[in-house]
Amino acid sequence: MSTVTLPQPVAALESSSPGPSGFKLAMNWVIYRLRIFTPLIRYTLHQLQFVLMSWYRKPADMQLLRTIYRERRPLLQPLESFNILALARAQSQLDGDMAEVGVYQGSSARMICTAKGTHHFWGFDTFSGLADVGEQDTHNGVKFFRAGHFAADYETTSAYLKDFDNVRLVKGFFPESAGCAAERKFSFVHLDVDTYGSTLASMRFFWPRLVDRGIIITHDAHSDGVASAIAEFTAETGARAISSACSQVILIR
Ligand SMILES: C[S@@+](CC[C@H](N)C(=O)[O-])C[C@H]1O[C@@H](n2cnc3c(N)ncnc32)[C@H](O)[C@@H]1O
Repeated sequence: MSTVTLPQPVAALESSSPGPSGFKLAMNWVIYRLRIFTPLIRYTLHQLQFVLMSWYRKPADMQLLRTIYRERRPLLQPLESFNILALARAQSQLDGDMAEVGVYQGSSARMICTAKGTHHFWGFDTFSGLADVGEQDTHNGVKFFRAGHFAADYETTSAYLKDFDNVRLVKGFFPESAGCAAERKFSFVHLDVDTYGSTLASMRFFWPRLVDRGIIITHDAHSDGVASAIAEFTAETGARAISSACSQVILIR
C-alpha cells in the first residue's frame, strides 16, 4: 500500500525560520520608535506598490484604491488592500454577511462594501481608539500602540459609507457590542484591531459563525500580540493560518 506525504502546514514551515534579521530590527526601530521618517517611508512604499500592481491588475481596481488612499490615508499596505478587495469580492459569491472589527476612518470598510454586492456589512469599532493594549502588544519588543490610538469620528465614518446599502456601524468595545450580530452567519471577516486580546476575542466570536468556506483575514500578524493571538487560536481550534506577503493572515473555515 502506498503512503501519501501530506504538505507541511504553513505555520509549521514558518515556525522553523530563524529570528528577525538585522534589517528587520533596524526598520522596526525606525518605524516604531524613531518615527520621524515613517510618513516618508510609508509614502514611498505605497507608491512603489501601486506602480507594481498597476502592471498586473485592472485599472478600475487601482483607481478605486488610489481614491481611497487619497481620501483616507489607510494604514494598510496597498498590497494588503488589494487582498481585502479581491477576497471580499470572491466571498460575495457565498451566502453570508461580511464584517470588520477595526473600522477606524472607514478605508478598508469601503473596500469591503465596494465588493460585497447586496450582502450585509457590519462594521464594529469603539471609535474612541484602542482600549485593551497590553504588555504583549509590541513589535519585536518595541512598544508602539497606546490606549486611545486611532480614535475616529463615528458620524464622519458613517458618511463615508453612506452610498452603500445594508451597512451597519456598531459603536462599542467588541465583542461586548456584538449581540446584534450573534445570530448572523459570515462569509468574510476582516480584523484590524491591533491587540492580542481583541484579535483573540474576535476570532472566537466569528469562527463558529462562518459559513462553509468562510474566511477571517487579520491584519498586524507581524506584531507580537496579534501573532500570539493567532497561535493561541489555531492551537485551540485546529484552524490553519495562511500567511500573505505582508502582515495579513487568513483562516479558512
Ligand atoms: C488600525 S485601526 C483600523 C484601521 C482601518 N481598518 C483602516 O482601514 O484604516 C484599529 C481600530 O480598531 C479599533 N478597535 C480595536 N480593538 C477594538 C475592539 N475590541 N472593539 C472595537 N474596536 C476596536 C480601534 O478603535 C481602531 O479604530
